[in-house]
Amino acid sequence: MLAIIGGTGLTQLANLDVVRREVVRTPYGDPSGAITFGTMRGESVAFLARHGYGHTIPPHKVNYRANMWALSQYPVKYVVAVASVGGIRADLTPGTLAIPDQIIDYTHGREFTYFNGTDRSVVHVDFTHPYCEALRQRLLQAAKQAAEPLLEGGTYAASQGPRLETAAEINRFERDGADMVGMTGMPEAGLARELGLCYAAIAVVVNHAAGRGDSAAGIKLADINTVSRGALTRVHKILDYLVTLDGR
Ligand code: HPA
Repeated sequence: MLAIIGGTGLTQLANLDVVRREVVRTPYGDPSGAITFGTMRGESVAFLARHGYGHTIPPHKVNYRANMWALSQYPVKYVVAVASVGGIRADLTPGTLAIPDQIIDYTHGREFTYFNGTDRSVVHVDFTHPYCEALRQRLLQAAKQAAEPLLEGGTYAASQGPRLETAAEINRFERDGADMVGMTGMPEAGLARELGLCYAAIAVVVNHAAGRGDSAAGIKLADINTVSRGALTRVHKILDYLVTLDGR
């Protein structure tokens, strides 16, 4: 089954025929909300709103461990995360959709691993390629079928939030090799890997990052919602094609 984690602006899936909602308790506490199960084009899909259904949980307070654990309690194989980002690279303008292929983690103070215990031997997971390539390719294929442009690749900088970055921080992220910046990509992707879930992200560029483009003098927060709404319509279309691709 495919699971979709909705980010800012995506607290429900417009094209999901809801069948049931389940509250899941986990050893790591409560997930952001109930998991919604339903069908899209006849295919089973699970949905979870990362920030809660009322969008009340800030990025640094999301219980990423509980969210990913809860999804892993079902026959979920693929997880698509939808995440808003600021564009650092010049071609990542507001409204662009991208499928990142790398991550740099600048977050701190978040619960980021299931392997904390002292009762078993240390576990390291390989994270050379942090996103699941099979799912990335399927997303690109779905976007092609939907005739929606989707930029292939890019390095996602996971920033701590909830405040936006300074212009100097964005300059630093760029020097480090980052193309876009968001607040939720980590530890989500790392936890998915620890659980063996095939995880990829659709990054929705909703603003120029701080100090760039029309954010040179500051990020106009009022514009973000408008950009986000338009872009999410295109995300829905891509997801619609994704669920019907063979061999999911
Ligand atoms: N920075 C961090 N996270 C974000 C941004 C940004 O500019 N835009 C949307 N999420």
